[in-house]
Amino acid sequence: MGTVSASRLLAVLCFFLFLGLIKCSVTYDRKAIVINGQRRILFSGSIHYPRSTPDMWEDLIQKAKDGGLDVVETYVFWNLHEPSPGNYNFEGRYDLVRFIKIIQKAGLYTHLRIGPYVCAEWNFGGFPVWLKYVPGISFRTDNEPFKRAMQGFTEKIVGLMKSENLFESQGGPIILSQIENEYGKQSKLLGADGYNYMSWAAKMAVETGTGVPWVMCKEDDAPDPVINTCNGFYCEAFSPNKPYKPKIWTEAWSGWFTDFGGPIHQRPVQDLAFAVAKFIQKGGSFVNYYMYHGGTNFGRTAGGPFITTSYDYDAPIDEYGLIRQPKYGHLKELHKAIKMCERALVSADPIITSLGNFQQAHVYTSESGDCAAFLSNYDTKSAARVMFNNMHYNLPPWSISILPDCRNVVFNTAKVGVQTSNMEMLPTSSQMFSWETYDEDVSSLDESSTFTASGLLEQVNVTRDASDYLWYITSVDISSSESFLHGKELPTLLVQSTGHALHVFINGQLSGSAFGTRERRRFTYTGKVNLHAGTNRIALLSVAVGLPNVGGHFESWNTGILGPVALHGLNQGKWDLSWQKWTYQVGLKGEAMNLVSPNGMSSVEWIAGSLAVQKQQPLTWHKAYFDAPEGDEPLALDMDGMGKGEIWINGQSIGRYWTAYASGTCNGCSYAGTFRPTKCQAGCGQPTQQWYHVPRSWLKPTQNLLVIFEELGGDPSRISLVKRSVASVCAEVSEFHPTIKNWHIESYGRAEELHRPKVHLRCSPGQAISSIKFASFGTPLGTCGSYQQGPCHASTSYAILEKKCVGKQRCAVTIANSNFGQDPCPNILKRLSVEAVCAPVTYTNNWKG
Ligand code: GAL
Repeated sequence: MGTVSASRLLAVLCFFLFLGLIKCSVTYDRKAIVINGQRRILFSGSIHYPRSTPDMWEDLIQKAKDGGLDVVETYVFWNLHEPSPGNYNFEGRYDLVRFIKIIQKAGLYTHLRIGPYVCAEWNFGGFPVWLKYVPGISFRTDNEPFKRAMQGFTEKIVGLMKSENLFESQGGPIILSQIENEYGKQSKLLGADGYNYMSWAAKMAVETGTGVPWVMCKEDDAPDPVINTCNGFYCEAFSPNKPYKPKIWTEAWSGWFTDFGGPIHQRPVQDLAFAVAKFIQKGGSFVNYYMYHGGTNFGRTAGGPFITTSYDYDAPIDEYGLIRQPKYGHLKELHKAIKMCERALVSADPIITSLGNFQQAHVYTSESGDCAAFLSNYDTKSAARVMFNNMHYNLPPWSISILPDCRNVVFNTAKVGVQTSNMEMLPTSSQMFSWETYDEDVSSLDESSTFTASGLLEQVNVTRDASDYLWYITSVDISSSESFLHGKELPTLLVQSTGHALHVFINGQLSGSAFGTRERRRFTYTGKVNLHAGTNRIALLSVAVGLPNVGGHFESWNTGILGPVALHGLNQGKWDLSWQKWTYQVGLKGEAMNLVSPNGMSSVEWIAGSLAVQKQQPLTWHKAYFDAPEGDEPLALDMDGMGKGEIWINGQSIGRYWTAYASGTCNGCSYAGTFRPTKCQAGCGQPTQQWYHVPRSWLKPTQNLLVIFEELGGDPSRISLVKRSVASVCAEVSEFHPTIKNWHIESYGRAEELHRPKVHLRCSPGQAISSIKFASFGTPLGTCGSYQQGPCHASTSYAILEKKCVGKQRCAVTIANSNFGQDPCPNILKRLSVEAVCAPVTYTNNWKG
């Protein structure tokens, strides 16, 4: 039964619940989550509602469903919903109820991870910053003020869900909820306080009476009935803390997050599929991909610190909502294959046999005669030919074959049959901006918005995170007798910062900058300073790049300049400025004047671009208007040429930007072998993040206001608006070989098709295949983007592909000798490799009047 019809039926059934005729429930046993009496193998994917826009939600959820998911998981983000105590916001991107109702409408289930601690590379791990200032509070431990606040928010969310009938026990889609997040390690460190808090949290959650199970991830002690679950790159070795709990993987990491200054981490889909198949073969029954769509950290929602605005995560659906191939398609085939085994998997425990040194068979049989087998090869280097049930099977290295009938292989985790899509960022017609600029005035600060104190103050205590920026200003009197004024070496300024970035201004001039990194938030600025005789103004702009989201009592970690701050190389030697009188200003003047919004923008005189822009002044506001480009491809700003700052469109922040260059090693990687984020990196030596997602729904047809605040002084004339689309698609499929049992994916159950694998190519809607860049039936070499002809090549390859594909949005070509004229190299296993160029469909007007 399809999921839609299943859940519609469920809704009807639940109606009868009121009549007392049927019991509608989610429970669990040692094998699986049980929904209405049925054990289920469930695939789930994380899609965090505020990391996309409401107008994207339906499409994302539909894509999740088409990708073979049963469940959509999201965290709940406390700091969005309760910006100040008791004031709630569930509007727009924060409309959690709407998001869940879209999931429900699509016929999918929800896993609601309330937290309220969420980690998630999200600012302050999801905690509102005001929570830190509740008297006597200590986060995530046996502390009354914290527990009171946590209970308040948890009950608020549960109450909201109940009032909308969203729990499955009420006929809604929520089948699971999470309390806390990965508390186990912390709990152990805190001893009794940790254990008491964890037990309290579990009990408090259960007492909310949702009628569906609760989970705690990475919490070995989770008390009954709460299920402890696994997070990680692999989870097959995990077992729950009681024999009657199912094996649930709440975070199967599909890739990894990015931080400014670091490379992009990619996880090969062959390894992800291998990890999932391994978990299922060991009796796992629920897998959630973290992330399935990562999305964007709009505004100042990124945590870390140093987490990028992009939260793409190398997920099956990319940051922009487009399908990432082959990741999406290969997992879809995996889900299909596992679903074919569902009855056997939930009925029994596996019989495990060895098929070789590194090879095993896991066989599930049910009383009703179902049989499903997983044949695995853990060898990282060599393929294996194994014997199972008197048949031979070839297993590539580090792979698992799935046999839903214990005979025929429908899927192997290492054999990717689906196409690879190469994405590109294309110029749009609105790419040229006409800039105007306004310099943030650093020479004087408005007395009314400043205050003074002796010594250096912690940044968040002062800003309460209302802005990334805090000015620390002091002055030094330099005597005319200082020897550096008479030709000796200039003095040096030393500033110790606890993070995250710092710009030093001496008498209104930028003197230098320094930055921390995610691994090392603290840093020391050292630079020569050009002082003059008399009074000099030292203004330090300390910049936060997202508050921490993980680590023991991260709420108490410091940000900003805590010193020492000292001048070295004066006649007196060292002059420690740390305990001087310092003047503070929270935020920028431009922020206070609301220059980013269409209303506040006109409060200052902007200077027409051409002249001003060339100066590349630090601390500069830039503004321009643009019209929305036609079409519906996702849009982004290409910020190459700029330094660091923030971007607003029509008054809404699309996030922080920073073109910091990625350090690290990017050598390419093999899918085989244990994955870790540093294994498969990309983008070394390039800006970590060059493109910044501009949601279509934030644009009007014309006159959109783009405002940028640049800290360092970039070149805005190089900024352009680009659109993302598929540039080309590649596919490679082998012909059928009698000794290799390998159904083609599309041919489940169609016996006549077994011997005829097909290549499928597909451009995006609105595109068509404009040319065939490469085609070779034979033994082609290389990979997508750099294919070459091998020793065997059918000369008809191009002509056949052109005939079947050019001009079409999608096409399929059967891999068979007969299709290519004649066999180009008998007795050799051949394959077809193709790269096809995708281009927008243009309607040419042939009417000549
Ligand atoms: C997990 C955490 C998630 C996320 C992930 C890394 O440990 O539960 O919230 O932070 O790591 O992306």
